[in-house]
Amino acid sequence: MDSGYLLEVLGLLGRWLHVIVAIAWIGSSFYFVWLDDSLEPVGEGEAKARGVYGQIWSVHGGGFYHAQKYPLGPAQLPTNLHWFYWESYSTFLSGLFMMSVLYYAQAPAMLADPGKWAATPAQSIGVSLGVLVGGWLVYDALCRLLIQRTVLLFAAVYFAFVLAVAWGLLQVFPGRAAYLHVGAMLATTMSANVFFWIIPGQRKVVASLRAGEPPSPIHGQRGKQRSVHNNYLTLPVLFCMISNHYAFTYGSAQAWPVLALTLLAAVLIRHFFNLRHKGRLAWQFPLTGVALLMTAFWLARPPGLTLGATVPTLAQVQPVLEARCVPCHAAQPRLIPAPPLGVMLDTEAHIRTNAQRVVQQAGYAKAMPMGNVTGITEAERQLLRDWAAGGYR
Ligand code: HEC
Repeated sequence: MDSGYLLEVLGLLGRWLHVIVAIAWIGSSFYFVWLDDSLEPVGEGEAKARGVYGQIWSVHGGGFYHAQKYPLGPAQLPTNLHWFYWESYSTFLSGLFMMSVLYYAQAPAMLADPGKWAATPAQSIGVSLGVLVGGWLVYDALCRLLIQRTVLLFAAVYFAFVLAVAWGLLQVFPGRAAYLHVGAMLATTMSANVFFWIIPGQRKVVASLRAGEPPSPIHGQRGKQRSVHNNYLTLPVLFCMISNHYAFTYGSAQAWPVLALTLLAAVLIRHFFNLRHKGRLAWQFPLTGVALLMTAFWLARPPGLTLGATVPTLAQVQPVLEARCVPCHAAQPRLIPAPPLGVMLDTEAHIRTNAQRVVQQAGYAKAMPMGNVTGITEAERQLLRDWAAGGYR
């Protein structure tokens, strides 16, 4: 079988799995943060004597549920205790698999931008892995150093760190890969929180309870802190993951501020929901978030169209697309197994159907040709922009 085709199939299966397990993980994360914030205190009585701190009734799918929280565990541990960790681990593993199939196996096209840094595959894969591991080490060190300080100080220092990494990545990787790596770094940190702190802490508590000793409350507090961090990281991570489909974000001349504003907006919007679960409606957070998003989209807009001396026509544009794009974007492309996303640029009709996307991807965002393997020139990109300015004649 053709190896390009194999990579496509693996990419599809990997992405499908990744989305399924990520839904399960983020779904349970949202559910438990909601649960914790919505607990109602129990009055004096039998439940309190058993160590219950709060409880809530809910109805879902035709039945009623009664959840109770024991911060230090019940007097008698049940034999069947459900744990939540495979959601997180399988999201990390399927993400790493996707990273390998899409980025590492195709590093020259996906991880290198000769206009920025002409890296060898080994170098760019090294940077990629270094960011994933280094991002966790820095976060973990900050958590230990700043755990006794205010949450806001931690958040400000960590946010500055993430933005510095984003800036660095945008200097060396294509914009698309840089955005994705910011998301992958945050998501790796989330899984590492589960793996290195949350689950081991829970194991210690369970071991103490089984041994009949009172568990130390530090494990619960630390686990809670890390799981709240994870909760705030979910929306930023999801943005980075889907940004790949929107070249106007990562391909903009303002790619870095666009990312910074969007990440901040995502955190503020998450904060609104967390406060709302506690019964507070703090509209200033989502409103600020929306204002930041609008600023980001305004910054990302393509520059105003200015027309060169002549108005190019399709007859002048077509040979450029023939040489630079059709090797991939044709019914039977030469360089890859199938036309990506079904986009074909091999006939006049196909070009007309995709005209705006063509100019967006190749004229402005410079996301195409992928890895510029077909060597498009600046003059040719300008020709595409002029073609748009002249009304796609
Ligand atoms: C080496 C192969 C290759 C070449 C050459 C190439 N592309 Fe692409 N193109 C791709 C791939 C792969 C994707 C799918 C990216 C994705 O999955 O988001 C794509 C996607 C696109 C899309 C759809 C993007 C979207 O998200 O809607 C457009 C439009 C596009 N290319 C235009 C062009 C133009 C214009 C050229 C020539 C200037 C070009 N491509 C050259 C591989 C190529």
